[in-house]
Amino acid sequence: MENIIDTICAKADEASIRQAGQILKRGGLVAFPTETVYGLGADALNEDAAAKIYAAKGRPSDNPLIVHITERKMLDGIVSEVSPQAELLMEKFWPGPMTLIFRKSEQVPYETTGGLDTVAVRMPSHPVARRLIQEAGLPIAAPSANLSGRPSPTSASHVEEDLNGRIDMILDGGDVQIGLESTIIDVTGDAPVILRPGFISREDVEALMGSCTLDPAIVGKPDPNLRPKAPGMKYRHYAPQADMLIVEGDPDFVTRTICAKAAKDLAEGKKVAVLCTEESRAAYGDLSCHTVGTRGNEETIAHNLFRCLREFDEEKVDMIYSESFREGTLGGAIMNRLLKAAGYHVLQQIGGAHGSLS
Ligand code: TXA
Ligand code: MG
Repeated sequence: MENIIDTICAKADEASIRQAGQILKRGGLVAFPTETVYGLGADALNEDAAAKIYAAKGRPSDNPLIVHITERKMLDGIVSEVSPQAELLMEKFWPGPMTLIFRKSEQVPYETTGGLDTVAVRMPSHPVARRLIQEAGLPIAAPSANLSGRPSPTSASHVEEDLNGRIDMILDGGDVQIGLESTIIDVTGDAPVILRPGFISREDVEALMGSCTLDPAIVGKPDPNLRPKAPGMKYRHYAPQADMLIVEGDPDFVTRTICAKAAKDLAEGKKVAVLCTEESRAAYGDLSCHTVGTRGNEETIAHNLFRCLREFDEEKVDMIYSESFREGTLGGAIMNRLLKAAGYHVLQQIGGAHGSLS
C-alpha cells in the first residue's frame, strides 16, 4: 500500500518558508507558488528526491523536470555550456516565465532530466519561489504540482486536491499571476526553438534575436511521425474528464452551433457546460457557462483557463463546448492547452478563417 504522508498546508510566511527550506534540504517535497503555476519542488541534485516527485505525481519517468534557480551563478554548476543566444534571452526574460534547455553538467542526475543529457532551467520571479530556493540553498527541480494528466494548479487548493497525503508541504501564496506554464526554449542548437508556447511569445523572442521557430511537433494535432523535443508535450495533459469540443468560426456561428448542440445533449439527459467569454455569455441564455475571461484582455483567459477545466471535473459534466482563442499574442499558448484538453476535437465553420497556431 502507498504511504500516506501528513501534508503540512501553510500560508507562505517567513516561518513556513524556512520550514519548507529544511524539508527540501532533507530530500522532501514542497509545493510552492510561482508566477506561472504552482510547482512541486525537490532537491534537483538529489536523485532520490527527484524520484519522489515522479512517484507523488504519477508521472512517467521519461518526462524531465525543470530546475529552478535564483541567481545566474547557480546556473554554472548545472549546465556545461551557455550559448550567446541563451545569454541574450536570460538577460531579457529572467527572472520570469521562460525555461531554457541547456546541455547538463555531471552534477545533475538523470532522474532529474528523465535520462536526457540536457537540462531545463528557469529563474522564477515570484517572491515566495525565490525565498524558498534561497532558503534551501539548492537548485530546485519542480514540475507543475498536479497529478499527472490533470490541469496545472493555479492555487494552493488545486494542489491540495491532487497531492494532499502524497507530499510533505504546500506553501500557500494565493492565486498565481499568469496561469499558463513557462515558455520552453531550446538553445542548444543554432537558432532558438520554442518547445512549449507560453506567456513569452514567439514575437517577443523574435524581437530580440531575429529568428525563432516552433517545434513542428507541437503545432496543431500531434503527428505520430514527429516526436516533440519536450517529452511532456506528447501526453494528453490538462484533460478534464468530460468530452470537449472547441467550436471555431465567426462569433455568431460559434454561439449558434454551441446552443444547438447543447440543446440536443440536454434532451438526451447529458450534463453540459460551456467555456465562454464575458462578450458572449448572454448569447448562451440558460446554459451552464464558465466565463473564462474577456477577449478585451487575453491575460484574463490565460489566468482562468486551468481553474475552469478543474471546475468542469468538480461538476461532473458529460460534455464541454468551448470557444476558440487563437487571436492575440497569447493565442498560441492558450490554444496549445485547450486543444490538448479537447483531445484536438475541433469543429470549424466551413469557409471560416482557418487560424494558424504558429
Ligand atoms: O511554468 C513552469 O514551467 C512550471 C513552474 C512550476 O515552473 N513548471 C512546469 O513543469 O510546467 P512541467 O514538468 O509540468 O513541465 C516541464 C516540461 C515538460 O513538457 C518536459 O518534457 C519539458 O518541460 N522538459 C524538461 N526538461 C527538458 C529537456 N531537457 N528537454 C526538453 N524538454 C524538457
Ligand atoms: Mg506539468
